[in-house]
Amino acid sequence: MKITVVGAGNVGATCAEAMVRMELATEIVLLDIKEGFAEGKAMDMNQCATLHGFDAKVKGVTSDYAATAGSEVVVITSGLPRKPGMTREELIGTNAGIVRSVVTNALQHSPNAIIVVISNPMDTMTYLAATQSGLPKNRIIGMGGILDSSRFKYYLSEAMGVPASDLQGTVIGGHGDTTMIPLTRLATYQSTPVSSHMTEEKLAEVKAATMVGGATLTGLIGTSAWYAPGAAGAALVASIVRDQKKVFPCCVYLDGEYGQSDICLGVPVVIGKNGWEKIVDYKLNDEEQAAFNKSADAVRAMNAVLGTL
Ligand code: 2OP
Repeated sequence: MKITVVGAGNVGATCAEAMVRMELATEIVLLDIKEGFAEGKAMDMNQCATLHGFDAKVKGVTSDYAATAGSEVVVITSGLPRKPGMTREELIGTNAGIVRSVVTNALQHSPNAIIVVISNPMDTMTYLAATQSGLPKNRIIGMGGILDSSRFKYYLSEAMGVPASDLQGTVIGGHGDTTMIPLTRLATYQSTPVSSHMTEEKLAEVKAATMVGGATLTGLIGTSAWYAPGAAGAALVASIVRDQKKVFPCCVYLDGEYGQSDICLGVPVVIGKNGWEKIVDYKLNDEEQAAFNKSADAVRAMNAVLGTL
């Protein structure tokens, strides 16, 4: 079995490294347009085989889509990352061209692949892939909500002084500083609402910190984060190739679900071998639904830019 990661930058390489350690496929193809770059990163990862104890291999290639042929999953991470002070949305012009060509090339060699989009602005890039590829909608999945939910649980765990693994929390809506919606009402610590463990103000602080989680890291590091984005991509691919049927918030094409249509936005979905297999209805209250609709308006405005490129 083969999985392809397009883009050997920080996120793509970290995602490939997480997947090879998890042995999600016998071969993980890492493709980049920069001569020798993916080859070098793949060699470095393969030299960890005896240290980490994995038998899978990473194959690095320069723009050689033939080497990706027959991939079950293609993860797209290529495109410009954010610089400090930049929004994900500012990347749209450049990254739309890149994502468009990656989708075309990848599908030419792996017509049955499930496409995972990580490139930013992720909701719009997923919409672009969904509307351009002609694939059944369940085979296009944007990765944002898994990462944002992981950051939500991190901030909750810091606020509560408890392990993040004891927390449940979901972020839906767009993958943008103002469009994501951490569902504080539904977040739990060992089956008890997190709201019973902290003040309303503290919970509002956690929510706000989650929403700018990516920007905070960009400010500190000087470019987009990669450890958690890469790991989140790998967790999503694991649920696909192992047919785990995990429920993850992912960006998928909505056709009336959650009150929205003709848009890709983050909602809880069951992830298995067919891609996203089912949308789970969390029964939002009025306030949450209003936030979701507002998020949809913002993402829709961004999608409209695609028509002007
Ligand atoms: C982030 O939020 C890269 O969009 C990604 O860090």
